[in-house]
Amino acid sequence: MGRAKKVVLAYSGGVDTSVCIPYLKQEWGVEEVITLAADLGQGEELEPIREKALKSGASESLVADVRETFIKDYAFKAIQANAIYENRYPLATALARPLIAKALVETAQKYQADAIAHGCTGKGNDQVRFDVAVAAMNPHLKILAPAREWGMSREETIAYGERFGIPSPVKKSSPYSIDKNMLGRSIEAGLLEDPSYEPPEEIYEMTKAIANTPDEPEYIEIGFTKGIPTTLNGESQNPIEMISQLNQLVGNHGVGRIDMIENRLVGIKSREIYESPAMVALIQAHRDLESLTLTADVSHYKRGIEETYSQLIYNGLWFSPLKAALDAFIEKTQERVSGTIRMKLFKGNAIVVGRRSEHSLYNPELATYGAEDQFDHKAAEGFIYIWGLPTRIWSQQK
Ligand code: ARG
Repeated sequence: MGRAKKVVLAYSGGVDTSVCIPYLKQEWGVEEVITLAADLGQGEELEPIREKALKSGASESLVADVRETFIKDYAFKAIQANAIYENRYPLATALARPLIAKALVETAQKYQADAIAHGCTGKGNDQVRFDVAVAAMNPHLKILAPAREWGMSREETIAYGERFGIPSPVKKSSPYSIDKNMLGRSIEAGLLEDPSYEPPEEIYEMTKAIANTPDEPEYIEIGFTKGIPTTLNGESQNPIEMISQLNQLVGNHGVGRIDMIENRLVGIKSREIYESPAMVALIQAHRDLESLTLTADVSHYKRGIEETYSQLIYNGLWFSPLKAALDAFIEKTQERVSGTIRMKLFKGNAIVVGRRSEHSLYNPELATYGAEDQFDHKAAEGFIYIWGLPTRIWSQQK
């Protein structure tokens, strides 16, 4: 008796997930492996990947185009929440995992599989995100993670695959571990494991080196409706176009590179390089529009919610009661976050240089230092007296 009869495997076409197919069947007695490759706009051709799964022994090989859901239901929520982990990482990889998990669970239900599987090792965050998301959606499904248990080195994994007709990587495979989707690229391992080593230029794909960016600044205007980016330079854009055009425009000016030491959920500190041009610009623009349209108290309170929200995305709690509750709060705050942000892109910077909104709370008659000033200066005195009273009493008592 094997660990499961019919398994739906998250499939990328790489060596590890390919080897999972014969491994599940040979070593763990699985009868049928159905693979599922998600199209998250990673810009790879998926038909060869689909065929590779069949050649590696899958009984069925599926491709799911989840790009639009990914942007609308995941990226846009993250933007409304200004979700950035540890002040740096816009969570491209972390946001994709619950969506892949959802597709796995739905496929398992459709094909009456009794387990899902993934190729994550036991050291990363992604295994946590898959396992917890699957459990949240269907606690009866088994979760198989061969790479967490098989204990094979890279070479042994390739050799194992060759026994079952899985070709070893043709190109001398990249020394880095790279995860990639429309929201960004995550690059780790190899020489980057030395935190003092400067990332070589060749690892980047979505962003230009400053030396190669245009010598003239470029201006863009991003329009938001209720916290969701809807127009670019005055034209309506569908979610996928919005992200891909911004990736181009912003990446061309070298914006969106991040080099950080981050704290993984499993306790390890790791060195990560990210590039995420559209998300970096969008969150900056969105935050700025909030500063124009939210009251001070909502704005300040929301910062704490944003921190919690970022952590729960990172820590695999996308499908959780806390996330749902925070979503309700965030959605309420976004009712008036509509307007346009003007940004200047230049030499690695995306700088907000102007903002407009019909819900603007900025009141020129109160803010001005000119003759039109309507602010009651005399009222300040009484306000300050009462505001400072506790401090005054404390000072007198000393
Ligand atoms: N450290 C990042 C995260 O936890 C990225 C992980 C990327 N995975 C990879 N195979 N490179 O979200």
